[in-house]
Amino acid sequence: MVSAFISNGEKETEDLAEQMAAELKAGDCLALFGEMGAGKTAFVRGLARGLGCPEPVSSPTFAIINEYRGGRLPLFHFDMYRVSSWDDLETASFFDYLESGGVTVTEWSENIEAALPENARRIMLEKRGENTRAIKMRVGFPLSEPRNAGGGAPPQCERKTEDPSC
Ligand SMILES: Nc1ncnc2c1ncn2[C@@H]1O[C@H](COP(=O)(O)OP(=O)(O)OP(=O)(O)O)[C@@H](O)[C@H]1O
Ligand SMILES: [Mg+2]
Repeated sequence: MVSAFISNGEKETEDLAEQMAAELKAGDCLALFGEMGAGKTAFVRGLARGLGCPEPVSSPTFAIINEYRGGRLPLFHFDMYRVSSWDDLETASFFDYLESGGVTVTEWSENIEAALPENARRIMLEKRGENTRAIKMRVGFPLSEPRNAGGGAPPQCERKTEDPSC
């Protein structure tokens, strides 16, 4: 079953994520999908606020990973926009982060769909208007099942062509 929310502004998206943060546990993974400007980083800002992480959230486009600590749980914020291979994920220690007792959230999850852990909660953000977003997620999906981070096919290779395996 899919739960859909309508957000009428950045603050509403942040507030929704802030509420979700209350139910998050160590080892959870949230996979955000949606085009540029859909509100993925705004959603992460709300998560950080809900977890009580004091540091400001910014898009880790160049660093791939930002860590926010000092809250109820550490928050590991990945931006997969430039990720196109399993090696990229290994280099960014993605699989280690999944196992390190925090909450992992990924922007541009489209690029790493095959590498997402089985327990990842997929959250789609869709632009419906200048300030309107539809935010969809499955409800009742267990977030604490054993994950399968090391297996499966390599991530999709949509953004780089220099990788010969793509
Ligand atoms: N309902 C809404 N929810 C979230 N952001 C909104 C909303 N309405 C308008 N916005 C605007 O859309 C933009 C969302 O930016 P944000 O950086 O969160 O997007 P993003 O999905 O992370 O993009 P990118 O793919 O570039 O990382 C902001 O400028 C924000 O003010
Ligand atoms: Mg972003």
